[in-house]
Amino acid sequence: MIRMMKAAIFDLDGVIVDTAKYHYWAWKRLARELGFEFAETDNERLKGVSRMRSLEILLEVGGVAMDEATRRESASRKDGWYVEYVEKMNPSELLPGAVEYVRHIRSRGVRTAIASASRNAPLIIHRVQIGSLFDAVVDGTKVSRAKPEPDVFLRAARELGIAAQDCVVFEDAEAGIEAAIRAGMGSVGVGKMDYLQNADLVIPSFQPLLVISRITP
Ligand code: BG6
Ligand code: MG
Repeated sequence: MIRMMKAAIFDLDGVIVDTAKYHYWAWKRLARELGFEFAETDNERLKGVSRMRSLEILLEVGGVAMDEATRRESASRKDGWYVEYVEKMNPSELLPGAVEYVRHIRSRGVRTAIASASRNAPLIIHRVQIGSLFDAVVDGTKVSRAKPEPDVFLRAARELGIAAQDCVVFEDAEAGIEAAIRAGMGSVGVGKMDYLQNADLVIPSFQPLLVISRITP
């Protein structure tokens, strides 16, 4: 299907900024405390999903049972370590070509939004100084059903005033591509084909898109 991209909706972690590694480091630290190793391949399942769902998957991988109160306490300890990394972030941690691409499409009249499962999205946006590049920001505090449910993307489209079918989502997570499909939006997977094969298009980074946009009007 050929679509008109009137709005581009970007996931934040792993698409605009390289925070996926900080999430991974913090979960790995928690896993070690719980007595098991958490592999990077298993970490793919945590991308895009909420903090509590991530913990559930981690515990499943380690075969660890945990009551509700300890779960809440563990998730908040992980968040403390994660925020320590995030507080030291600066614009050098923006992923290659991301900001340039957002600027390019904005100059062509495309509306832009961030739609992230993260409750820390506002802090990250502030640290890397990209707030002025987006017409709307929907973070994990604004929707109750996380990806792969489509809510975060539908809310972003509503805030932008653009119909879902005219939106294209940029995502690095399998759950995020699924959410974009359920929202009836186009999808571009940013990263490896292995996890993103359901997307309309997969790119390794924003750089190839910038090359295309230089040769097409
Ligand atoms: C997503 C990440 O953007 O945000 C997930 O891809 C993370 O890995 C989720 O679990 C929630 O983030 P936070 O910052 O609210 O714990
Ligand atoms: Mg992501």
